[in-house]
Amino acid sequence: PTTYETILLERKGRVAVLTLNRPEALNALNLQVMTEVVAAAEELDRDPEVGCIVLTGSAKAFAAGADIKEMRPQGYMDMYLSDWFTAWDRLGQVRTPTVAAVSGYALGGGCELAMLCDILLAADTAKFGQPEIRLGVIPGIGGSQRLTRAVGKAKAMELCLTGRTMGAEEAERAGLVSRIVPAAELLAEALSVAETVAGMSKPVAMMTKEAVNRAFETTLAEGVRFERRLFHAVFATADQKEGMSAFVDKRPPHFIHG
Ligand code: CAA
Repeated sequence: PTTYETILLERKGRVAVLTLNRPEALNALNLQVMTEVVAAAEELDRDPEVGCIVLTGSAKAFAAGADIKEMRPQGYMDMYLSDWFTAWDRLGQVRTPTVAAVSGYALGGGCELAMLCDILLAADTAKFGQPEIRLGVIPGIGGSQRLTRAVGKAKAMELCLTGRTMGAEEAERAGLVSRIVPAAELLAEALSVAETVAGMSKPVAMMTKEAVNRAFETTLAEGVRFERRLFHAVFATADQKEGMSAFVDKRPPHFIHG
């Protein structure tokens, strides 16, 4: 297995836990973190034994943003030629379901990273925001787009234009996070959600994720047609027979993930 310096990788059955580990910088997302997170997620995505990936940080910070010290000296040509941050898009293309477990600061790139995941669980200590404008820049990992889709224009505009941070309660009310969990229980709860997802048929979970994500990219009519095609396709899996037979036989299903 590959060794990483800025992240920790752990396997718990069919769940993989990827922990950001740059405590000295509140998990600021430098290019090494980006490269390692994306490489690890893609490696896990190729593993049929991994049914769900949890992405988390520390109690104090999920991630306090992109690395300001690394970005400070860069010029336009540096950013353009190296296509700075574009590799993060690949995390959104991972087909295995992902859960962000956010405790403490999720600011700038940290908030954007959490929004790249499929399920977003927040500790009651979580703080979300896009404070880039205070640094004289704008979000660069999709924040202006994903935050707006998640919470609507009014709140996204306010957060992006003022740099204000919002707490977990507000984030849940606004629809950014699916649930708030006491900080001490965050990881256990994230693991429990991930184990539930990982216990499903993997191809069917992949198709579910694909269908929901399609809602952000297309019209309602196209999205419904896309869903219908995938719905028909699941009848080609053994897991459809198993899931429905288990219901009829009044027993738990044993998905063979195909
Ligand atoms: N980049 C680089 N280093 C960072 C960092 C970041 N985003 N956030 C924190 N750090 C570093 C600090 O510089 C500090 O290092 P030193 O000890 O060497 O000084 C260390 O982490 C601890 O941070 P603080 O002392 O500031 O901790 P605090 O508890 O006083 O404050 C905080 C916490 C409010 C989160 C504060 O660190 C902060 O405001 N961080 C920056 C938040 C931010 O602006 N994020 C957006 C970045 S831009 C971006 O993300 C662009 C994009 O869209 C991709």
